[in-house]
This record gives sequence, C-alpha cells and structure tokens, in this order.
Amino acid sequence: MTRHLITSAIPYINGIKHLGNLIGSQLPADLFARYQRARGREVLFLCATDEHGTPAELAAAKAGLPVADYCKQMHATQSKLAEGFRLSFDHYGRSSSAQNHALTQHFAGKLAENGLIEERSERQVYSNADGRFLPDRYIEGTCPNCGYDKARGDQCENCTKQLEPTDLIDPRSAISGSTDLEVRETKHLYLLQSKLKDDLDAWIDSQTGWPVLTTSIAKKWLHDGYGLQDRGITRDLDWGIPVRRGDADWPGMEGKVFYVWFDAPIEYIACGAEWVEAGKGEDWERWWRTDKGADDVRYTQFMGKDNVPFHTLSFPATLIGSGEPWKRVDYLKSFNYLNYDGGQFSTSQGRGIFMDQALEILPADYWRWWLLSHVPESSDSEFTWENFQVSVNKDLADVLGNFVSRVTKFCRSKFGETVPEGGAWGAQEEALIAELTEHLTAYERHMEAIEIRKAAGELRAIWVAGNEYLQASAPWSVFKEDPERAAAQIRLALNLIRLYAVLSAPFIPDASGTLMEAMRTEDANWPSDLSAALKALPAGHAFTVPDVTFRKISDEERETWQDRFAGQRT
Ligand code: MF3
Ligand code: ZN
Repeated sequence: MTRHLITSAIPYINGIKHLGNLIGSQLPADLFARYQRARGREVLFLCATDEHGTPAELAAAKAGLPVADYCKQMHATQSKLAEGFRLSFDHYGRSSSAQNHALTQHFAGKLAENGLIEERSERQVYSNADGRFLPDRYIEGTCPNCGYDKARGDQCENCTKQLEPTDLIDPRSAISGSTDLEVRETKHLYLLQSKLKDDLDAWIDSQTGWPVLTTSIAKKWLHDGYGLQDRGITRDLDWGIPVRRGDADWPGMEGKVFYVWFDAPIEYIACGAEWVEAGKGEDWERWWRTDKGADDVRYTQFMGKDNVPFHTLSFPATLIGSGEPWKRVDYLKSFNYLNYDGGQFSTSQGRGIFMDQALEILPADYWRWWLLSHVPESSDSEFTWENFQVSVNKDLADVLGNFVSRVTKFCRSKFGETVPEGGAWGAQEEALIAELTEHLTAYERHMEAIEIRKAAGELRAIWVAGNEYLQASAPWSVFKEDPERAAAQIRLALNLIRLYAVLSAPFIPDASGTLMEAMRTEDANWPSDLSAALKALPAGHAFTVPDVTFRKISDEERETWQDRFAGQRT
C-alpha cells in the first residue's frame, strides 16, 4: 500500500505566525495527514522551523538575545502553538539541527564532486565599524528606483524592487547605522543550476498531475531563464551552517555559512533523521531514499505560491545534482494568499490575527473550520469577522452542534441514555443513506485530490443531510403516536453522530473527540458501507449528552474582536 510522506513549508523562526501563514501550508498539510491516517495509511508528516538567514539574526537582535537562544525559545513557542492548533506533525524539527548541518554539508560536497559548484569572487559591502560584510537586510539606504530612504539591501519595501546592497544610495549599516562602508572582494560558492536545466525540464514535464498554479510558476521560472540562473549559496554571516565540503574543510570559505534557502529544504530530509533521533521512528531512509525502500512512498508538499520556485527548481536541483537516489516530490499543493479585512496580513506591521491571539479567544476547531473551508485555493480569499461569525454560527453551531444536542437530549428525555431499539428502518432512512453515500464518495474523492474547499462542502452537506432528515422525520411528534418508530429514528440519528465524529475528525479533531467520547465508542473506523456503519452503536449502547459542541459568536463579541484586531499588534 502507498505510504504518504507529507511536508509543510517550514515557517521562519522570526516571530509568531499569523492565520494567513497557517492556512498557507501547515493547516492544509495537517488535514491531509489526518485524512490519510484515518484511511489506515502509513503517514510521515514533517515540519520544522526555518532558523537561518538575516531575518533570524535581526529578530534576535531586536529581542536582545543571542541568536541561538532566540531560536530555541521561538521554536518552543511555535511548537506549543502548533499543538494548540492540533497540527499533528510526526516531528517538528529545526533547520539548525546537527542532522541538517551534516546533510547540508553532505549535499554541498556531492554537488562539488559533480562539478556543479563554482567559486566566484564578488564585490560586497563591508562595514568597518561592525567588522563584517553586510548582506541582504543588514544594509539600508535610499532606493535608486523610488527614493524611499529605508530601502533594504535585498528589496525596497516601498516600491518592491529587488535590489543588491551595492545599488543603494547613501547606504548605512542596519546594525550600527554606520556609513563607514566600503566595497570589498569576497569569494562565494555558486550552484550551477543552469547545467541542470534539461534534467529539471524533463522532470517537470513528467509531472502530469500537478495543479496548474504549480506548473505554471515552475515553467515560467524555468523558461524566463530567471529562476535558473546560477545561484549564490553562501553568505558572510555568523549564524548558519558553516560551509564545508562533506566533512572536510573548504579552503577559502572559512567564516562563511550556507544561504538559508539552500539549507531550509534539506531540513525536510534532516527532519526525518531528527524524528529517529527523538525515538519516534526507526528508519528515515525508507521514506527518503528510493534505493532504501521509498519506491512506494507518495510525497506531497504544501506551500504558499511564493515558495513554489524553490520547490520546483532549486531544491530539485540540489537533489538531482547530488546524483544520489533521493525521493522527489510527487504532488505539490500550493496556495494563494489569505487577506485580512480589506488589506493584507502583515507580520512586520502586526496586522491581522496571530496564532497565539486566535487561541486566546476561541478553540482551535472554530479557526480550523473557517480557515480550511475558505482556504485560498483557486484565488486569494479574505478573512472578515462577519464571514467568520456566519460560518461558525451556521455550519458549526446551527447545523452540526444543534443536531448533536437535539438528538442526545431528546433521547435522554424519552428513552434514557442508551441507544433505543425501535423497529426496522424504512424508505426515509434508505433515502438518507443513499444521499449520504453520494456525498461521502465525493468527500473522499476531493480529499484524495486535496481539493479542500470542495471537500469541506461535501462534509457540510453530510451534516446538513442529517438535519434535514431529523426535520422531516420529526421524532418528537412521531413519539406521541408511535414511540417504536421514533426510537428507530433516534437510533439512526445517534449513529449519525458517531459517523460525523469519524468523518469530521480531519477538519475539527477536538469536537470529533468530544463526540466519540459522548457516544462512548472508540470505533473510529472509516466507513466503507454506510448501512453497516450506521449500525455501529447497537440498541442498548450507553452514551452521554455532551456539553455544547459549538457555541455561537455574538454580534457584540464580533465587534469587540474587530476593534481589538483593527490596529497594530502590541
Ligand atoms: N521559511 C519559508 C517561508 O516561510 C519557507 C521555507 S520552505 C523550505 O516562506 F523549503 F525551505 F523548507
Ligand atoms: Zn523603492
């Protein structure tokens, strides 16, 4: 049977992520991992923090901490929030791990052996006051394009133009503010990606099942000649993976580290080794090496659209260029952006809702449901408080929560807290089962294809069908004339609650757990035949009435939150 290797783009360490980041890779990846596990398939689901590069160093400086301490703390914070959102990683690793150091150096060594790395001298800004080179964001100055006076060495935030540090007018150090700068020669390693163009082209062409968003981005970069320029893979920074050639020194590269985008994707693999080191698994190569059993692995990656070029070109270039049999991605699911209330989510401006704040005001399932059912799949989507309130109140409280509460309370008052017997089911029940079967088939199809919005729609339809059945069969009025018939109806409805718990678990795992507990069952088997699955709880089986499964969001709360999150995060 196919085994599923699943990775989510690894989030930057430089702060708590907002809900736009969460729905852009980690949460959909979790949905898919939970679904595949529920179907009884073997899954390895990996994620990690992306800890190198100038953003990490600058965030640490801002927090007044040594960068290693900052990363350690922030990794712990991000892990806790991931647990809070019930992200079911088999391991949440760190790109700064010993395993990633070794593996990144290993890949660099192999690429060099295969003639794919070249040393080049280049001119870079050196700060005499700071005693170091100033790459990327370490340097600020006036944008030559628009005149903005706080442009960074890699990009102008005002006009978005990509820059080189040497482009800036009146440059100064972002560390000390010093303008005592000079341009010096420094040597760097370049990965000769252009030599791999044909291999990459052939590989991308062979991926017939990829989504259009993914392939079009990959092809554009490949043929523009833009994405496949030879790429500098080293930097003059302190924090990062020291440049070595396998386990040997690299003469002339002392004091330099690999560029963050070189080591970050390698962490997907290293994370498997960390997973074993942590005692959670036995053998990571069986997932990652096609010569060691990974032939029956299907590898799915999740990421935002801005990450696609790195995953379709740069990382595959590293893997192909190594000449070793590493497992490559089979399906790459990419997402558009989630906007926030008429603008963008922004980490630098503290705009929108951040993961810690979200969990302070409502449990994870409320967010999971809204985010997943509104995931920016075919275009950008927008979070508004009105829309959030409507979805939660309707889908979760009115449809699902209300069904559970009406059925269990009615049963308790008329038949007690056990599944009642009643007679056989008739035409009404058969029609319901037929309708549910259709939705279930579609639900499975969309989940397999990772069409998340469509899957959410089918799940909602499954909840709605139960409500409509209850409304139409009206056991509360039938009970007066024909208690036997009402008992049969309630027996079905109680079984529907268990079925809902099983089918909804990938979206709303906590609520699903509460329902399973209330139904006092551990039978979470994915149904193959609904007539049989709806008999899992036989007459006489005891249950309890659960507490409110989902509560409604009031207008007052909505307004309070809207105000609270309108400004900048403090
Ligand atoms: N940290 C990057 C981001 O948040 C993603 C890195 S993904 C990996 O956009 F491929 F590098 F691992
Ligand atoms: Zn500019």
